[in-house]
Amino acid sequence: MERAVVQITLFGLLLASATTLPNKDDWDIYSFHINSTVTSRYATTVITSRVANRVDDSKEVEFQVRIPKNAFISKFRMFIDGQVYDGVVKGKEKAQQQYTEAVSRGETAGLVSSVGRTLEEFKTSVTMAALKKVTFELTYEELLRRRLGKYDLQIHARPMQPVKDFKVDVYINEKAGINSIKVKGGLSTKALANAITKTHVDKQAWVYFYPTEDQQKMCDSCGEQGMNGDLVVVYDVNRNPSLGDIKKSDRYFVHHFAPSNLASIPKNVVFVIDQSGSMHGRKMQQTRIALIHILSDLAEDDHFGLITFDSSIFHWKRELVQANMENLESAKKFSREIVERGSTDINKAVLEGARMLNAHPREGSASMLILLTDGDPTSGVTNLEVIQSNVRGAIADKFPLYCLGFGFDVNFEFLEKMSLQSNGVARRIYEDSDADLQLKGFYEEVATPLLTDVTMIYNGGTNLTQTNFSQYYNGSEIVVAGQITDNNIETFTPQVVAISSNRRVRFSDTNATVESNGPVSDSHIQRVWAYLTVKQLLEKELVLSGPEKENAKKEAFELSLKYSFVTPLTSMVVTKPQGENTDVLHKPKEGEATEGRRQYQMGRQPMFNQNTQRITSGLTRKQRKWGKNKHKTNTGQSYPMPAPPGIPARSVPGVFYSPVDTGLRRSHDPVTLPGVFYSPVDTADRDFQIGTVDYDSRILPSIVSPIATDVPLSHRFLLKTENLSLPLCFDVTGDVRLKLLHHPNRELSVNGELDSVENGGFRRIVIHLKNDLHVEIDPKEITVREGQTLTRHVGPDPITAGSLAAIRQDKEIDVAAGDTRMIIIIHEQNGEEFLWPVLRQRPLDNNVSGILALKPAVYEEVQQSPPTRLKIKDQEIDVTRASAVDYSTVSPPTHHCWLMSAESALQSHLDDFIILQL
Ligand SMILES: *[C@@H]1O[C@H](CO)[C@@H](O)[C@H](O)[C@H]1NC(C)=O
Ligand SMILES: *[C@@H]1O[C@H](CO)[C@@H](O)[C@H](O)[C@H]1NC(C)=O
Ligand SMILES: *[C@@H]1O[C@H](CO)[C@@H](O)[C@H](O)[C@H]1NC(C)=O
Ligand SMILES: *[C@@H]1O[C@H](CO)[C@@H](O)[C@H](O)[C@H]1NC(C)=O
Repeated sequence: MERAVVQITLFGLLLASATTLPNKDDWDIYSFHINSTVTSRYATTVITSRVANRVDDSKEVEFQVRIPKNAFISKFRMFIDGQVYDGVVKGKEKAQQQYTEAVSRGETAGLVSSVGRTLEEFKTSVTMAALKKVTFELTYEELLRRRLGKYDLQIHARPMQPVKDFKVDVYINEKAGINSIKVKGGLSTKALANAITKTHVDKQAWVYFYPTEDQQKMCDSCGEQGMNGDLVVVYDVNRNPSLGDIKKSDRYFVHHFAPSNLASIPKNVVFVIDQSGSMHGRKMQQTRIALIHILSDLAEDDHFGLITFDSSIFHWKRELVQANMENLESAKKFSREIVERGSTDINKAVLEGARMLNAHPREGSASMLILLTDGDPTSGVTNLEVIQSNVRGAIADKFPLYCLGFGFDVNFEFLEKMSLQSNGVARRIYEDSDADLQLKGFYEEVATPLLTDVTMIYNGGTNLTQTNFSQYYNGSEIVVAGQITDNNIETFTPQVVAISSNRRVRFSDTNATVESNGPVSDSHIQRVWAYLTVKQLLEKELVLSGPEKENAKKEAFELSLKYSFVTPLTSMVVTKPQGENTDVLHKPKEGEATEGRRQYQMGRQPMFNQNTQRITSGLTRKQRKWGKNKHKTNTGQSYPMPAPPGIPARSVPGVFYSPVDTGLRRSHDPVTLPGVFYSPVDTADRDFQIGTVDYDSRILPSIVSPIATDVPLSHRFLLKTENLSLPLCFDVTGDVRLKLLHHPNRELSVNGELDSVENGGFRRIVIHLKNDLHVEIDPKEITVREGQTLTRHVGPDPITAGSLAAIRQDKEIDVAAGDTRMIIIIHEQNGEEFLWPVLRQRPLDNNVSGILALKPAVYEEVQQSPPTRLKIKDQEIDVTRASAVDYSTVSPPTHHCWLMSAESALQSHLDDFIILQL
């Protein structure tokens, strides 16, 4: 939602500045290249943007790109007029001091900021003389993490305008051999499929993405301003069954250890779930859904416990019990009934969880404690340090503590520190429609322990990164880097000692995939070592105190400087031609509570420097057009606002928003209720809707009612209007199949088949997600086909499959898939049941289509006495007064409406909405 807010605010600004926008012919990004080279999971990416000033005037040009949070920027340079301007990495304080003046003018700080879940934005600008060119070049590096059995290389492409010479080149070189590679992400859609080439030969793979200028306007949230989306290269490597993959040079080594041919170890897991008042609404609902799902995934030999807490603790059972059918059913029932109330006593809850695990020692098992919370401790012990120390004492390194921080009200640093002190990690759960999937996804990462007490031993190695790991999970990977003592490869012998179930196991293999190469690879391995060392020192610094903390900080700082990494301890000073402001860029710290807000503020910051005419690549021609249209039209009111103040969120209608409250929609969070008003759309006539919030318009499909039987065996649809005028209605005859929603960027389509009986709605609704997930819904059951697996659901248990979640509550099925959410209502009439879909959360993308994506109707009455004539667009249409039942609510009311042909109402052929196959 934050994103939407930003967008809106941005548009607001644009409206204000529309007249001062530069002519698009003034400047040109004539080339934009992203080149990513991955060697042994270490990715070095270079973004090169070449811009020309086409006019006789000097212009300020902005370079703005997004890079993965996990990465460190290691180089930035500009080439202007044969001159190179290199960024220099300095100590944060030093950089700051040196440039206090610039910083105090507020012109320079914070040039890197967090964006969304995984990205950071880098931004700088330079003034270019008339008819000159500039080349920006940014390099960043990251060690790819293995998660759920794969590595993800995320490349964000957002050049800010269509670019003639646009290229993404990815080259992957893995000595162990690449066993699978896929290209995913918002840019990997059908429309762009022929722009992507993927080649894979044993140890090497190449992915090229060369979209044409036209194609650059066709993708996810792309438009006149060109591309804006991700290309994600997902791959995994072959596994050596024993020691894994060791790369070494004369002086350094990196060891990747990820055995998968081991039996899983039974778990003892205790879930500690925050049910304080702030969890109210969707967060609690998503937590219940995720929890029920996670419980279903427990293996029979797992033991588990479940605690909820606010200012008190509520046990499902006081001790851990076996995950057998009976216990799981009872725990699910308990989960379904969790209600939010009260304050937050994290201390008491975590200590109780630790007590339960400590009281349940079990040979050959792996214990873990999982805390889910969305806020700061507010009752019981509230001093953060005291809590951390209590928790650390109670756990005493016996099992890891994982903390999941839900939303942005958590003190993430507190959670992170508490987890790291107990061998775990903290994860942020973003408040979004897929929060339940994020929760479940995290659980899956730790669901299958294969080893405990893992010790990595390197005789002849020194300056090692972390070598002891309490647990190793299937699908993850342990990475250790270090220096080789006295540069002596001969005496270097790695081995791993660990516990697998009840056995002590040792992995050693003198001829593991060890590579020894010359100086090039030496500097590569050295950088991997430096990257990992800095990352771990930064974590240590968080956990330690006193002189140890200072030492860790100093060491991390010195390595950052030496390897030119922009870390939270260093800054890059961007040098520029004389007379210009100096930019200082800092890396934001993950877990900063302001992250979400900062993102919001970014949109609010003036995009323009009043004095210079800035070429802000963030502005788009499309947006300019909206701005202009706004001046031309006077329909509706202006934003920005997701939900108008003073009006309860749930009364803000979007298209197909039905004002019924159900258990699933108790949330007062306006996040679930974006209307149509800020969704970028593609056709000219819709442009001005961007600037319009209309509170009343709604399209409500309906069917033939007993009092309007003009056309037998047909289904009457209602199309709500912009204002309080009568809705339109039209009939669809026969048992046709209709395209309800098509969302190509998400590869989501929803189709429905109408009943052949009178007064029926839809007999079946089928949802397709990507290529491999198909969900068929009828009034009796929900059938999920995922790949080869088919499952049937009749009860109220939540269903999750891929990125889709569904839950049936009485007469309503709530379905969430990515950014789309809909309710399917089950109506009954004369003993016959049928379905009626209501779009609850409209996708933000501009290219959704289908009946559910229709915009509210706009018409004028041109002749009032019968026959009544309405004017829609430039067409006059005869209409008759009729009535229709509004099936978008559980107890459907009947409305009067203007009846017309489907073509007139839809402003398009009905055929465009009819499909052959469900
Ligand atoms: C990408 O970068 C690598 C390493 O710097 C270089 O060898 C290669 O030529 C570059 N590829 C392109 C297409 O620029
Ligand atoms: C671990 O993951 C691999 C690959 O995904 C799978 O083949 C194997 O069965 C898993 N092992 C266990 C114990 O689940
Ligand atoms: C790692 O574990 C080994 C054996 O369990 C232990 O002897 C050693 O002290 C540990 N090292 C660290 C740094 O904790
Ligand atoms: C080590 O390498 C030799 C020869 O290359 C091979 O025969 C042997 O099977 C390898 N040992 C292991 C444990 O992989």
